[in-house]
Amino acid sequence: MERFVVTGGTRLVGEVAVPGAKNSVLKLMAASLLAAGRTTLTAVPDILDVTVMGDVLTGLGASVERDVEGGWIGIDVPDEPGVAADGDLVRRIRASVAVLGPLVARCGEARVALPGGDAIGSRALDIHVNGLTKLGAVVDVEAGALVARSGGRLQGASIWLDFPSVGATENLLMAGVLAKGTTVIDNAAQEPEIADLCAMLTAMGARVEGAGSSTLVIEGVESLTPVAHETVPDRIVAGTYAVGALMTGGDVMIRGGRAGHLGIVLEKLVQAGAEVDVRADGFRVVGRDRPRSIDVVTLPYPGFPTDLLPQVIALESISSGTSLITENVFDSRFVFCRELHKLGADLRTDGHHVIVRPAQRLTGARVMASDVRAGAGLVLAGLVADGVTEVTDVHHIDRGYARFVESMTALGADIRRVPDRAVA
Ligand code: UD1
Repeated sequence: MERFVVTGGTRLVGEVAVPGAKNSVLKLMAASLLAAGRTTLTAVPDILDVTVMGDVLTGLGASVERDVEGGWIGIDVPDEPGVAADGDLVRRIRASVAVLGPLVARCGEARVALPGGDAIGSRALDIHVNGLTKLGAVVDVEAGALVARSGGRLQGASIWLDFPSVGATENLLMAGVLAKGTTVIDNAAQEPEIADLCAMLTAMGARVEGAGSSTLVIEGVESLTPVAHETVPDRIVAGTYAVGALMTGGDVMIRGGRAGHLGIVLEKLVQAGAEVDVRADGFRVVGRDRPRSIDVVTLPYPGFPTDLLPQVIALESISSGTSLITENVFDSRFVFCRELHKLGADLRTDGHHVIVRPAQRLTGARVMASDVRAGAGLVLAGLVADGVTEVTDVHHIDRGYARFVESMTALGADIRRVPDRAVA
């Protein structure tokens, strides 16, 4: 166990390069299962979740070669991959459920441990299960695993999602590309990472229309060919540095960041007082005065991303007025508020709302990263808190932020990684 020790009071100034998106690369890795042979992915971020997903694929019979420095990964998928994903690994990252669609489509069967022992019909995976059932799979729970069997090729169908779930859209898309006939996914999630997956699938020979829109029309094909594909830049990492620039009164060039994928986020940061300069190779964010308070409502893309919520709550805790933050995607994201409160933030949660009042100042304390984004939000708060903030459980941050300490240090932050038992 390690922790980050952050000494507040520095401005973020300089340049940071945005790595490939965690939420894309994990699904691109799963998509490699759709074709025998070697898939090569580039712009692969140096994060823990990629390692775990690589282990999931290895457990399914693939050979995974990774060059961490070079940022690429090669995945050799056998003619007949295994169909059972290792339970311990699957429980470590929810994204591993993305192997379900490709495996059942290609092998006629898939067995994936249930994250946290969910039952079919529970909120967490019901949209995936309902969609696969529409495509002709029979889905059961057996010995703590979700088992999908198709007894042959899946059959294309029209599927209307109850909610534009990112994971369900991806699973059903990957199942549909090898199904017989036409699959239509309506109320599909529109996240840029799904458009990235569509681009890779299309290059593999899939026939997908409507990438990036709420209706995906897929003409199933009999087989696909492996390809080389570059991962889309991580908009959440880019957004995190952007919020950090504003909070610290800094000046950061976010190289490789796609402003077009952060429309509402940049609009909100401008309302809060940031200067944003969009360039061909990224965008620059400058913060000058104390940020003005803004209200934020999270929604599926193109709405404000839930994965930037903790960072924005940290921003609001030092802004000049009161703000109302509403979370509409997940129901337990506010655990983070308890930790931020320890730094002196003035927060009141009520259902899926948080009211944030301006704090006189934040003061360093020991706080816990409860998830990847909460951890990033706490580091941002630590940058503007008086004294030393210790963020524990940083393995969560390592799941999604490549070389976070190094990048923050290069921007001028005073941040160190130390073993949890060592004296800071
Ligand atoms: C993905 C992202 C995550 C992001 C989220 C929303 C990855 C690895 N993770 O997660 O970082 O925060 O999108 O943008 O890409 N739901 C159901 N039934 C289902 C599926 C989902 O009720 O079958 C609910 C979930 O409980 C949640 C909401 O829908 O409340 C959103 O989930 P979803 O869009 O599926 O998120 P993930 O794909 O898990």
